[in-house]
Amino acid sequence: MTEQIVVPDNSGQDSHKDAELRPSTLDDSDFIGQTQVKSDLRILIQAALQRGESVDHILVAGPPGLGKTTLAHIIAREMGASIRVTSGPALERQRDLAALLNSLDTGNVLFIDEIHRLGKVAEEMLYPAMEDGDLDLVTGGGKSSAGRSYRIALPTFTLVGATTRLGMLSSPLRDRFGEIYRLDYYSVDECTAIVGRSAKILGVPIDLIGSEEIALRARGTARVCNRLLRRVRDYAEVESDGRITGSVAQDALKSMQVDSLGLDDMDRKILKTIIEKFAGGPVGLNTIGAALSEDGLTLEDYYEPYLLQIGFIARTPRGRVATKLSYKHLGLESLLDNSDNSNDQPNLF
Ligand SMILES: Nc1ncnc2c1ncn2[C@@H]1O[C@H](COP(=O)(O)OP(=O)(O)O)[C@@H](O)[C@H]1O
Ligand SMILES: [Mg+2]
Repeated sequence: MTEQIVVPDNSGQDSHKDAELRPSTLDDSDFIGQTQVKSDLRILIQAALQRGESVDHILVAGPPGLGKTTLAHIIAREMGASIRVTSGPALERQRDLAALLNSLDTGNVLFIDEIHRLGKVAEEMLYPAMEDGDLDLVTGGGKSSAGRSYRIALPTFTLVGATTRLGMLSSPLRDRFGEIYRLDYYSVDECTAIVGRSAKILGVPIDLIGSEEIALRARGTARVCNRLLRRVRDYAEVESDGRITGSVAQDALKSMQVDSLGLDDMDRKILKTIIEKFAGGPVGLNTIGAALSEDGLTLEDYYEPYLLQIGFIARTPRGRVATKLSYKHLGLESLLDNSDNSNDQPNLF
């Protein structure tokens, strides 16, 4: 398998460090968890291979860091296909996508990350490409001429789209995928296994309790498992003998200000802002963002999903509210009485 990076992944989330820890197969000891997705995918790929066909277009959805990019590469590998990698924001202009589609070879996997951020024009060009394998081009339209339209037949290919925001995908685009796989947050046991697997690859000595301590604070997210493991390893090497035991992990995570639920400084700032500046909400994400000099979209993509998942904030038609759980976690119960949501939103608790 060859990999060609058409554009660098500009999400800032994938580094070369991610690559060495990236599972390359669907084996249970390699790509941990996501059992249903893996078994569906195995059947899908096996069946297509047996028929000598390309695999149908696949959409992978889920919060950041759960393994969408990893799965895209695994799909290509299991198909024995080359993968071309790009992302929605990189396909702003019509000709970017046209050139890319036009350069595909038979059987290629085209991976479009953050496909919900695809521009309208590019999205409409994808429809015939996905459905009939056609590329429609209009060239040379000027003031006096109408421009000519061309139709080019593309080789068969498999589009793998990844999105953190399934809801932002238009239904015509969504409907053109044969399969939609949703990745779920990992359980603590699965995170423990992910930490153990990564430690083995990195050659870091760690015991089960050490793995568990990290897993407990990894927010159910594979990428966070790996990030915390690396930081704890640094700590263990500097402050101890390099081995990660339960107590070394605890000390390390404490010094990193990662709390018992895996919330970091930014999570706590978000919750505190809602509670202290906006009386517990409801308040819009952009307003919270402005108060923290942080982009509302970043909050929505990277911080909010986990805070929603653990029930620390809730979405209401008028904005986000901090729930009782987050007051408690931050030791701010005394503010509960005068918050808007203590009597306003009783159904939340
Ligand atoms: N199921 C898994 N088992 C083990 N490690 C995983 C798994 N899913 C993801 N990872 C690790 O997490 C990192 C981030 O995964 P990635 O596929 O980049 O997430 P996403 O594209 O969803 O943001 C990868 O480098 C990989 O090492
Ligand atoms: Mg990714």
